Amino acid sequence: MRSRAETEPAVRVDRLTVEHHREPLGIGEAAPRLTWATVAGAGWTQGGYEIAVDRGGRTTTGWVEGGDSVLVAWPGAPLRSRERVEVSVRVRGKDGSTSDWSAPTAVEAGLLSPEDWTAVPVGPGPGTPPDGVWLLRREFDVRDDVVAARLYLTAHGVAEAEVNGAAVGEDVLAPGWTSYAHRLQYATHDVTALLRPGANVLGIRLADGWYRGLVGFDGGTREVYGDRVAVLCQLELHHADGTTAVVASGPDGWSAAPAPTSSASFYAGERHDARSDDRSWSAPGTPTGSWRPARDVSPRDPGTLVAPEGPPVRCTQEVEPVSVTPLEPGTFLLDFGQNLVGRLRLRVQGPRGTLVRLRHAEVLQDGRLCTRPLRGAPSVDEYVLAGGGPEEWEPRFTLHGFRYAEVSGWPGGLAPGAVTARVQHTDMERTGWFECSDPLVTRLHENVVWSMRGNFVHLPTDCPQRDERLGWTGDIQVFAPTAAFLYDCTGMLRSWLRDLAAEQLPDGTVPWYVPYVPGGPIWSPPRPGAVWGDAAVLTPWDLFERAGDRQVLVDQYDSACAWVDLVTRLAGPGRVWDQGFQLGDWLDPAAPPEDPTASVTDPHLVATAYFARSTDHLARTAEAVGRPEDAARYGALAAEVRAAFRSRYVTAEGRMTSDTQTAHALAICFDLLLPEHREPAGTRLAHLVRSSGNRIATGFAGTPLVTEALTRTGQVPTAYDLLLCAELPSWLYTVRQGGTTIWERWDSLLPDGSVNPGDMTSFNHYALGAVADWLHRTVAGLAPAEPGYRRVLFQPQPGGGLTWARARHRSPYGEVAIEWHWTDGRLDVEVEVPTGATGTVQLPLQAPREIGPGRHRLTADVPPDWADR
Ligand code: BGC
Repeated sequence: MRSRAETEPAVRVDRLTVEHHREPLGIGEAAPRLTWATVAGAGWTQGGYEIAVDRGGRTTTGWVEGGDSVLVAWPGAPLRSRERVEVSVRVRGKDGSTSDWSAPTAVEAGLLSPEDWTAVPVGPGPGTPPDGVWLLRREFDVRDDVVAARLYLTAHGVAEAEVNGAAVGEDVLAPGWTSYAHRLQYATHDVTALLRPGANVLGIRLADGWYRGLVGFDGGTREVYGDRVAVLCQLELHHADGTTAVVASGPDGWSAAPAPTSSASFYAGERHDARSDDRSWSAPGTPTGSWRPARDVSPRDPGTLVAPEGPPVRCTQEVEPVSVTPLEPGTFLLDFGQNLVGRLRLRVQGPRGTLVRLRHAEVLQDGRLCTRPLRGAPSVDEYVLAGGGPEEWEPRFTLHGFRYAEVSGWPGGLAPGAVTARVQHTDMERTGWFECSDPLVTRLHENVVWSMRGNFVHLPTDCPQRDERLGWTGDIQVFAPTAAFLYDCTGMLRSWLRDLAAEQLPDGTVPWYVPYVPGGPIWSPPRPGAVWGDAAVLTPWDLFERAGDRQVLVDQYDSACAWVDLVTRLAGPGRVWDQGFQLGDWLDPAAPPEDPTASVTDPHLVATAYFARSTDHLARTAEAVGRPEDAARYGALAAEVRAAFRSRYVTAEGRMTSDTQTAHALAICFDLLLPEHREPAGTRLAHLVRSSGNRIATGFAGTPLVTEALTRTGQVPTAYDLLLCAELPSWLYTVRQGGTTIWERWDSLLPDGSVNPGDMTSFNHYALGAVADWLHRTVAGLAPAEPGYRRVLFQPQPGGGLTWARARHRSPYGEVAIEWHWTDGRLDVEVEVPTGATGTVQLPLQAPREIGPGRHRLTADVPPDWADR
């Protein structure tokens, strides 16, 4: 038998990906960029690559010299609409060794030009009552020589398709929520296997979704986008002889009927009466029920139809209850052990007409569901049994945020497997992991992961459970670095950033949340606000830094400039943004519960610090996208803003005018201080942290930065004291209180176990989980030193009594990882650098070391009090 080394080349291409797609079917890029990770021995360096594209005949680039492997330009002619090709790559080392060709990756273009669309929106017509789900169907004939069939599907509303009674794909709440007036996503499905020669039926379930349903505050606003739901779809059947038949939504052959789901709303929930189920509705033949011709509805400019850049929402996990408590006959309280976002699937059998009701809540109060924090989102699903055998049901067009559910009206006992929670979110690939010797910190990290999952649902939302669920710009602005470590969210956030740019006002104002919907007087019309609006500059930068995608900066450049230019005008020649409404250090724990903007830190100090930060990052962005003049101009402006910040908010002796943790953290992290004032500011910050008993005394603006600011100024032990404090308010208080997600308020659950009486008491809000970035970078010690982790910084800064920590991240180059153990004054570290990347290791009390790809073990003498020296 031959050994592995003899049979496999020493170098191989691990995976070849296309743009930021998880599945490159129906993509919108005609010239998608390619990324591959290579597995090779230590010391191997790529000297060149060759890309082959099979477009029915294989062409290759020939060997291209160079070490690039991330987002490499598309070779050759752009893809045509619908074109399907196979791409593979092989690499050659500087040592002359060559890999085999990678396994081919199939790439298929979507409909790239507006002329590709013949479909027009069709729906039940005007005057249909809101909330109800509609069925649409169209019969069509299929020849016996179909070689491929694609369904391009979108909707004004949310839609799911069936062909001949079989579900098309597993997407949930498609086409998601974008800035509909500017961009409506369509999905591409391969439906070849669902067709058969002869009569076929395409059926669509259609609900209001974000288009016509209730969205936003105070129970929501209806019909934000329009009063008529419609489906827009195009089924294309490709025949062996090269001809194509198209079945498109439009005036011909479509009929509509109300579905047995009489209401479906994000906030209210869903009601389905299985007694009126007609399983043949999407099968050939004449279905029963009240079908009538479907109607053309408001037209849609096909130029606004876009292919998705990120994955769809799907069920990613099923969770069984950890306990089932009978409350009264037919009523049970279920605890799923985890606060999650999704819905319940029932497997039930009982008499016809039995009504099963499902109520959801994140928390309990006195042993019962506490639904008050849901505000105007009752979150009740109802199912009426058809009777006569086992039935299975899950709502389709709603989502709930819950850990507990109350099931009532249940026939008989509740058997294991009868009620299962199905977790739903944008199905991004997991890319980041962290663990350490303190189980509470590890659980905190897990809570961050769950809050990201629950709030990355087509767009990054603030919370998933109450009436709101909006794409708050400030929340993702602080959380993006953490998000980009945990999951590959580049495609999804890139798409959302396009919406941000699309909805920016002509003067550069960024709405508080994107997509914008009318809110109360504070939010409508949008006003410029620091921290939130800065997402226009800082979030593209974070994606560039983490994913190495410069194009994000190019695409968002005008939007970023518009924001900084606006703030420059608002600040005026003084360069201090001291006018107008600000949320500032929103949700400072010292602010009165009814006024979360009343933070102890001057909101205009926060605004001016962010002005400096964004201007500085815009200068870097200009540099990165090849605009040196802009870079110089914004660089000079940033210097002026920093100077203005100092003269307004820092005394000549270096004391901050707001003697608060947030003020110090911003000044340190955003490099706003004179060099000689930096360390003293760190000392003062450490003092402030200690004098608040190591509890949190910061809101949205400060909290993500305090541990980082302490670390940068040599106050690592205090950073750990802050992290490990478990008194209210603190991160670990929430863990001690049994939290399984990150909360909106530190005291969402009060010390006596009761639920905070305020009306902003979400238990699933990722923003304050942004500290996970510090866990990754500083506790474990893993950070990008160059965009895309082309150079990795391994700089663990152990402390807080932790004896070990580890983190790993699937970077564009491959897996980067670190694990350290710290015992008896000795720090043992193992790191991994993927092929194509390099690393810098900076261990405590040691000079930095440069390392190449491969696994490395390093050791350092690190006494327990190293950070105090
Ligand atoms: C949201 C946020 C958001 C904030 C802005 C809240 O209602 O839940 O997380 O950033 O408003 O003030």
